[in-house]
Amino acid sequence: MRRPVSIAPPKGKLGVLTPGMGAVSTTLMAGVELVRRGESIPVGSLTQMGTIRLGKRTEGRVPKIKDFVRLADLNDLIFGGWDVFPDDAYKAAAKAGVLDAKDLAKAQKFLKEIRPMKAAFDQNYVKNLHGTNVKKGKTKFDLAEQIRDDIRQFKKKNKLDRMVMVWCGSTEVFMKPEAVHKDLRSFEKAMKANHPAIAPSMLYAYAAISEGVPYANGAPNLSVDIPALEQFAKDRNVPVGGKDFKTGQTLMKTVLSPGFKARMLGLNGWFSTNILGNRDGEVLEDPGSFKTKEESKLGALEYILQPKLYPELYGKFTHKVRINYYPPRGDNKEGWDNIDIFGWLGYPMQIKVDFLCRDSILAAPIVLDLVLFLDLAKRAGMRGIQEWLSFYFKSPMCAPELYPEHDLFIQLMKLKNTLRWMMGEELITHLGAEYYD
Ligand SMILES: NC(=O)c1ccc[n+]([C@@H]2O[C@H](COP(=O)([O-])OP(=O)(O)OC[C@H]3O[C@@H](n4cnc5c(N)ncnc54)[C@H](O)[C@@H]3O)[C@@H](O)[C@H]2O)c1
Repeated sequence: MRRPVSIAPPKGKLGVLTPGMGAVSTTLMAGVELVRRGESIPVGSLTQMGTIRLGKRTEGRVPKIKDFVRLADLNDLIFGGWDVFPDDAYKAAAKAGVLDAKDLAKAQKFLKEIRPMKAAFDQNYVKNLHGTNVKKGKTKFDLAEQIRDDIRQFKKKNKLDRMVMVWCGSTEVFMKPEAVHKDLRSFEKAMKANHPAIAPSMLYAYAAISEGVPYANGAPNLSVDIPALEQFAKDRNVPVGGKDFKTGQTLMKTVLSPGFKARMLGLNGWFSTNILGNRDGEVLEDPGSFKTKEESKLGALEYILQPKLYPELYGKFTHKVRINYYPPRGDNKEGWDNIDIFGWLGYPMQIKVDFLCRDSILAAPIVLDLVLFLDLAKRAGMRGIQEWLSFYFKSPMCAPELYPEHDLFIQLMKLKNTLRWMMGEELITHLGAEYYD
């Protein structure tokens, strides 16, 4: 990838399109509106609250990220989306039960005006959903064309300058890349033939790229993570990223495990269990959707701990992940981790983590950051997989010959160095030898 020569300024309005207007998406919309009105602050958002050190430690140059790279202003964001349920964003947010009535009331008027477009949906890919706000089309290709038309209409109606799409739809059943995903010709042929390997989330990704709209996938299903769409994104100069927002339990995993490895502490086992009662939990009750999530949640430890390099420490650990749908909890998930580690002379120790989190409260700022950074990438002429955004994902996409980087701290360094690189600033290695000359 070449360093951007120039970055277009973020002028005009930026459309934010989410396939899926459920808990995460509506929490984002309501939150941005409350922040815009000065009713709240954007906690959890690196683009809004984070800073970046530039130059030497002695220079004292530490601007806010949003002042260093020019990001779209929150006041310029216009929201839209698709869902299989016809509820407007207010009703959907009330059903999701993430925000309390007081906060929802403040954003009521704004949310009520955001109504979902008809979804490209097929129950074969999300078994536990039964919605009516669904597009009709003879082939999957027709459906993709309808999504493209939605995108164009939305842009025109709202007089937008640019758009970004983030998949906030349900987790689809587990699928592996197949021959029809190999290149664009096979992919388009398969869409026209209604091939079962083409899931709805791929139609949105295809439509977004076709329209030059950056696309990120917040769920663990393949979506844009197939060779045909990766190449298509490169050819069309569209930045893409995924998969699966890194929010609660996996965030903790990618914080703790680099610490164990840094101190050469061994691991015998890691048992993770969750209870959650939102619609996401209901969808994940289906074994097909659960398998997609499980694969995504299991990956991080293997990559971070590198058992092949450290067989005595990490060669034999047991890693299990369970998710249980438990309606009384709603969006307020509880994630327990029992971690069996060992230290000097092999003596065993245990760590218990009980994270009483709020799924969508953790996810919403991630979506905001992805929107703003993908828009920046597009304005900077960056295309294809944006590995520097791995920071936000449980299963980061990367070039086929690479392994994904899961360690949160390496991911953050990579993200900030990418911003410095884009702006022609010196990269920070943390060597610091020059201070002792
Ligand atoms: N909240 C988190 O912490 C978190 C973390 C990682 C990943 N995710 C993923 O993000 C996604 C959204 O999570 P959520 O809590 O908002 O779930 P949700 O169930 O509240 O919302 C998802 C919405 O997508 C809609 N949908 C499903 N298929 C669709 C399609 N083909 N087109 C348009 N709409 C469709 C559903 O009707 C639903 O309203 C899920 O896949 C979830 O696994 C969430």
